[in-house]
Amino acid sequence: MSTKKYNVGIIGYGWAATAHIDAINASKQAQVTAVYSSRPLDSATLSAKHGGKIKAYMTVEALLADPDIHVVDITSYPSQHCAQAVAAAKAKKHIILEKPMANSLTEVRQIVEAAAQNGVKGCVCFECRFSNQMTATKALLDQGLVGELHYAEVDYYHGIGPWYGQYRWNIGKKDGGSALLTAGCHALDALLMCIPSEVESVTSLSSKSKSTDFTPYEYDTTAVTIIKFKNGAVGKCAAVVDCHQPYYFHTHLIGSHGSILDNKFHSTKLQTNKAHWSKLSLKMLDSGDVSDHPYQEQFQAFFDALDKGQDMPLTSFRESLRTFEVIFAADQSAANGGQPVKLA
Ligand SMILES: NC(=O)c1ccc[n+]([C@@H]2O[C@H](COP(=O)([O-])OP(=O)(O)OC[C@H]3O[C@@H](n4cnc5c(N)ncnc54)[C@H](O)[C@@H]3O)[C@@H](O)[C@H]2O)c1
Repeated sequence: MSTKKYNVGIIGYGWAATAHIDAINASKQAQVTAVYSSRPLDSATLSAKHGGKIKAYMTVEALLADPDIHVVDITSYPSQHCAQAVAAAKAKKHIILEKPMANSLTEVRQIVEAAAQNGVKGCVCFECRFSNQMTATKALLDQGLVGELHYAEVDYYHGIGPWYGQYRWNIGKKDGGSALLTAGCHALDALLMCIPSEVESVTSLSSKSKSTDFTPYEYDTTAVTIIKFKNGAVGKCAAVVDCHQPYYFHTHLIGSHGSILDNKFHSTKLQTNKAHWSKLSLKMLDSGDVSDHPYQEQFQAFFDALDKGQDMPLTSFRESLRTFEVIFAADQSAANGGQPVKLA
């Protein structure tokens, strides 16, 4: 039976769920004890596959009514996230929520509000913040090695075509949402982490590949967003899910004392050779494969924060709400042909 402190119930048993289950079970305090899926699943088969004792539920309501479950992990289709997260909050379960939190700002706010009202904590799967590439980059910034940033580009290039499992639902506006909502949000979120300032306004333009691989998409699959920060800095985020190229999470940060380009840097403070980049040894964000994502580091931070009764660092509901406010403003700007949108 249960030996760890937190029992976790998974809602939605797809590709992301498989990586989540391994990451949760590898944490110090938590284990997966329940799975809800719209498909009939067998408890014994699930338990044998993932280890431990896992009960299969046929309805979300039944899973949420289980008093032995402390945390739910929502990895369902994006259009289901809001109703499931609000129901989980009302059932007093803490929540791990895959991105996008939801595909409208109203729904994202409902989720954050429901969690606050019911005293439950949230973790949004912006796990890139916990990657070796981004934690090391952030440490360089925090130590002032490139000074204060005035310009930053963080871009997401990853073709989500017919060869990709999510394609079947990602092509629809209802679940895919936009180039930013479906995947580019990771890059925009990382950009916001790098520049410690509120956002003043955003301007975005969108486009779409002429390749027939992307014709079925109901929305523009490339978007480029310019962000004006209140401290005067400018950021740029390209979200490109209709390319034919290797996965690329491009990071170019320009500061008063140097620059960081992916896994390379130059720093006037360190007097490195400006004629050549200096190389950092990092594990790069270079794959869309969920088995390669730093979920374990992120979930460990979430459970550690739960132990202390605190919001988790970096990817709490409130912190991630800020990213989604910028994303929805960007999508609004793109829908209006690039009219700037001010943030409240
Ligand atoms: N943070 C990340 O980097 C990352 C990576 C992958 C997915 N995700 C997110 O995770 C969520 C789920 O994505 P996914 O890749 O696991 O999608 P998926 O298509 O594998 O699963 C999505 C949903 O469909 C259900 N499903 C899958 N196959 C089914 C079938 N044959 N019959 C009925 N239902 C079925 C799953 O249970 C799940 O609820 C999405 O919100 C997605 O954006 C995030």
